[in-house]
Amino acid sequence: MIITDAEREAVYKTIKWRRDVRSEFLPEEIPDEVIRRVLTAAHQAPSVGFMQPWNFILVRSRETRQRIKDDFAKAHAEAAERFPEGRREQYRSFKLEGIMEAPLGICVTCDRTRNGPVVIGRTAIPEMDLYSTVCAVQNLWLAARAENLGVGWVSIVHEPTLKDILGIPPHIVTIAYLCIGRVRVFHDAPELEKAGWLPRSDLSSLIFNERWEGERPC
Ligand SMILES: Cc1cc2nc3c(=O)[nH]c(=O)nc-3n(C[C@H](O)[C@H](O)[C@H](O)COP(=O)(O)O)c2cc1C
Repeated sequence: MIITDAEREAVYKTIKWRRDVRSEFLPEEIPDEVIRRVLTAAHQAPSVGFMQPWNFILVRSRETRQRIKDDFAKAHAEAAERFPEGRREQYRSFKLEGIMEAPLGICVTCDRTRNGPVVIGRTAIPEMDLYSTVCAVQNLWLAARAENLGVGWVSIVHEPTLKDILGIPPHIVTIAYLCIGRVRVFHDAPELEKAGWLPRSDLSSLIFNERWEGERPC
């Protein structure tokens, strides 16, 4: 299978224009076949030893989403206290979730016990199953963008509370709670960059030759 020039352009365009969406969600439902395509892309992610440790919990209930939002509010208030005074107010001013605005939440989990205790590739570094599940999240995010759907990752929640709300067993790890839906607009740069929180780093400053802090390639 050869990727054509136009298809390659489309992949890079999708990557460049993927955004974390919080404020721009529209309430309209996403057709089931579109959700299925996006989840199929997630399920095609690489995984250590082909473990496929993920599950996807689709959350539409407003009541359930309100409980998650309530926990977000608590975690967000706690987080604000941890920023230095100069940054606290700016942190508080950011909208960092779209839990009630997006019509669908997707909780992506990792079953660390799937397919038995010994997994090809996870023997030396046990976290590889967690990293695999993050690959599924990224596939989902990019596929959603290709469908012109916005995704926002909400990590400002207490994991035990999220697990309790969604009935997730103790041995399962929650990797991501994602809000997904149609959007008014996709921003052309990260919102935190536009707000002056942090700039995008210069790629060249992040590349080393041969060794950590080795001479930089020109
Ligand atoms: C692991 C992870 C957790 C994140 N958690 C949150 C979050 O809780 N709330 C939020 O608004 N954005 C969250 N984000 C989105 C980042 O803020 C966003 O990716 C970053 O600012 C770059 O913007 P972009 O995704 O639009 O390019 C998260 C992103 C990742 C990868």
